Amino acid sequence: MKYRKDLDKMPSYDGVERDYRIKVNANECNLNLPPLVEERVLSRLSRVAFNRYPNYEYDSLREQIARNFSVDVEQILLGGGSSEIIEKLFYAFGGSSSSKIVYPQPSFSMYKIYAKAAEAQPIAFDLDDKYDLDVDNYIAVIKKEEPALAVVCNPNNPTGNVLTVDQIEEIAKSVDCAFLVDEAYVEFYGKSAVNLVKKYPNLIVARTFSKAYGLAGARVGYMIANKEVTKMIEKTYMPYHMNSFSLATADIVYQMRDEFVPRIQMMIAERKRMSEQLKNLKGVKVYPSNTNFVLIHYDKAVELNEYLESLNIGVRSFGSAPRLENCLRISMGTREENDEWFEAIKKFNK
Ligand SMILES: Cc1ncc(COP(=O)(O)O)c(C=O)c1O
Repeated sequence: MKYRKDLDKMPSYDGVERDYRIKVNANECNLNLPPLVEERVLSRLSRVAFNRYPNYEYDSLREQIARNFSVDVEQILLGGGSSEIIEKLFYAFGGSSSSKIVYPQPSFSMYKIYAKAAEAQPIAFDLDDKYDLDVDNYIAVIKKEEPALAVVCNPNNPTGNVLTVDQIEEIAKSVDCAFLVDEAYVEFYGKSAVNLVKKYPNLIVARTFSKAYGLAGARVGYMIANKEVTKMIEKTYMPYHMNSFSLATADIVYQMRDEFVPRIQMMIAERKRMSEQLKNLKGVKVYPSNTNFVLIHYDKAVELNEYLESLNIGVRSFGSAPRLENCLRISMGTREENDEWFEAIKKFNK
């Protein structure tokens, strides 16, 4: 079979998916839609025109997001999850080994994969011992390497820590290249760089409905950027790349986003509660987090992960991923689920 050159060498996404009894491995929201929202979504879906391409639904969601951020509708692009947005951005700024893409490490593991798929040269920038990004150093590396695209993930997955909006602005104004801020978890942090898009034409913000809005199954994300950027990225999409059902669902969810505030607050409260409890376990190091998950370091993380798996509890183990040896990432489930995985960890740690 004559596959594309080097496809066999492409790394695959390293997440293990299984239907765990307690599933806290993928930073999803463990509650389905609030009943009121679900009712409205189902009613809206019953009116979707199955026979039509999704023009109306695409424009309607795009306009709604643009209105909320007081930007022009042309500054918004939607995608099949923010994954599609990020992948297309990497494609658009990649294309040859002279197109470099700089991203932090450890961070979202797909950055490296998308860079390779885009035939760009991936350049990983090491976070410091506390997993913080040294902004001055990052700017210096970007100036030296002259990449086509630089990325930060804020808050960062899987470490949970953040840059301030001032730090993001410092990077945006100091570099010439396109600068992507991946805000997949921003609703749990509350401080977005979106307003900086008006000031810095190189800044691109990617957002998702998958995490705080519990819509991982619908695969909807969006980007906010300068019109020149969105115009170019749009060229990389196939026509009608999103389906009407996901778009109509996200449209209602976005209209009713206030309904999600209590559960976002609940997940933040759970993160704080579980971080405190985990800190009391001997040998467990808990990293500060502004997301819906916590990262822990534990010398026996591999054995602990096996034990949790035997109880049908799925957390994210990083195996031997660079700088994440013996680390586990646990996303916040319901209060009862969190109590249960915590008791299991406590028992293992005795
Ligand atoms: C940092 C980060 N960015 C982007 C994504 C992609 O999410 P989605 O494609 O569901 O929007 C994820 C998913 O885990 C993520 O952690």
